[in-house]
Amino acid sequence: MGKCASCHAGDMKSNSTGPALGGVQGRWEDAGKLHEWIRNNQKLIASGYPKAVEVSKISASAMTTFPDLTDPQIDAILAYIDAKASGKLDTPKEAAGGGAGCRWRRIEPEQPDVWSGFIDPCPGCPGADLCKL
Ligand code: HEC
Repeated sequence: MGKCASCHAGDMKSNSTGPALGGVQGRWEDAGKLHEWIRNNQKLIASGYPKAVEVSKISASAMTTFPDLTDPQIDAILAYIDAKASGKLDTPKEAAGGGAGCRWRRIEPEQPDVWSGFIDPCPGCPGADLCKL
């Protein structure tokens, strides 16, 4: 999440260079367009998509583009944003099998195979491919 945290506040509730991201999925009607925004906001704004044009006016700064993010990576980021904003990560369960120092947290206890939240992930933890985000 370092890629986003330089401009978006980690608590998901305060505005920084970029707006607070908590609840963002509810503010975008079309999930596909939200993915497009995160991957390349400039292209979506240039296409004239109304929500993108509206959001582009929030700040005089432009958001970086992240053309290499895959859909599963963006879904993981959005799940993290929701979990963080809703306080779910305040009482995290330790990741099973992650090893000492693993700070990955399972945020969907009812779905043991779904690792959709992460805090400072370390090598060897489930889903470590997302460490670079
Ligand atoms: C260089 C600063 C910067 C970085 C880095 C950045 N953003 Fe942004 N982001 C912004 C700004 C500024 C806006 C508001 C749009 C505007 O004014 O052009 C924004 C808007 C958004 C929005 C729309 C918010 C809304 O209320 O609809 C989302 C979603 C978003 N960013 C997600 C991300 C994600 C996810 C990352 C990391 C992969 C990221 N941003 C990285 C600056 C940044």
